[in-house]
Amino acid sequence: MASEHGSSLTITVEQVRLRVMPTAEDLYSFMSTTRSIRRLRDTPIPDDVLHRVLQAAIWAPSGGNRQPWRIIAVRDRELKQKLSDIYVEEWAKYIDFNMKKVEGASADIIEAVQKGLSTGTKLAETLADVPVVAMFVHDPKALYVTDEGLGRAPVVGGASLYPAVQNLLLAARAEGLGGVLTTLIASRESDVRDVLGFPNDWGVYAMVPLGYPRGNHGPLTRAPFDQMVKFDRWS
Ligand SMILES: Cc1cc2nc3c(=O)[nH]c(=O)nc-3n(C[C@H](O)[C@H](O)[C@H](O)COP(=O)(O)O)c2cc1C
Repeated sequence: MASEHGSSLTITVEQVRLRVMPTAEDLYSFMSTTRSIRRLRDTPIPDDVLHRVLQAAIWAPSGGNRQPWRIIAVRDRELKQKLSDIYVEEWAKYIDFNMKKVEGASADIIEAVQKGLSTGTKLAETLADVPVVAMFVHDPKALYVTDEGLGRAPVVGGASLYPAVQNLLLAARAEGLGGVLTTLIASRESDVRDVLGFPNDWGVYAMVPLGYPRGNHGPLTRAPFDQMVKFDRWS
């Protein structure tokens, strides 16, 4: 649209809308490309960007709005190295577990599994180089657990915790950052507590290394819609 001041400086209403109004397509695009990014640059994350993705985590819902979790955003290299030392050990166990599963398989399959795991090994070994390691800790006493005593592992407690992780990962994606939800370090919470100093009655539930990706944000591999969603009844 031209104006009396010349067309080059004129912004149409539609352009303003496109600049300031997020669309559903934007959100779906971020959601459908928020994959695990394990290859991260050591480029620092600007404070304002980091603040926004951490704020996004706080917007997550929790049972009774208790918000029974905190993030410790670890930037100190020495502390990150200590977390790396712990995570390397747990990752090594995870590799053993996966390699045992493919014992006796063809060389192609073994090689593919090894290749898949090698990115995780690199991440574990270089965790100190990642600009921010977000450690998610929780207060187990404050969880609403509505599925105890059913003869299976209760899962509802975690529903007050993990939405914050996904909010952070989606915000990170929108900011051009990448990360990965990891949980293997959770079994070592007393060691993590020694490093980060959170209260004795709090636990670890996720660790998210966060930084600018070396690879691309990418399409996800997921089961088809009809397999995952049922309308009205199971069959
Ligand atoms: C509950 C949970 C625990 C996970 N733990 C780890 C982990 O400890 N280390 C890791 O490298 N990835 C971990 N992942 C990432 C998954 O391996 C990954 O999300 C999955 O393979 C799908 O890949 P994508 O995110 O790239 O689509 C975890 C994911 C979830 C949801």
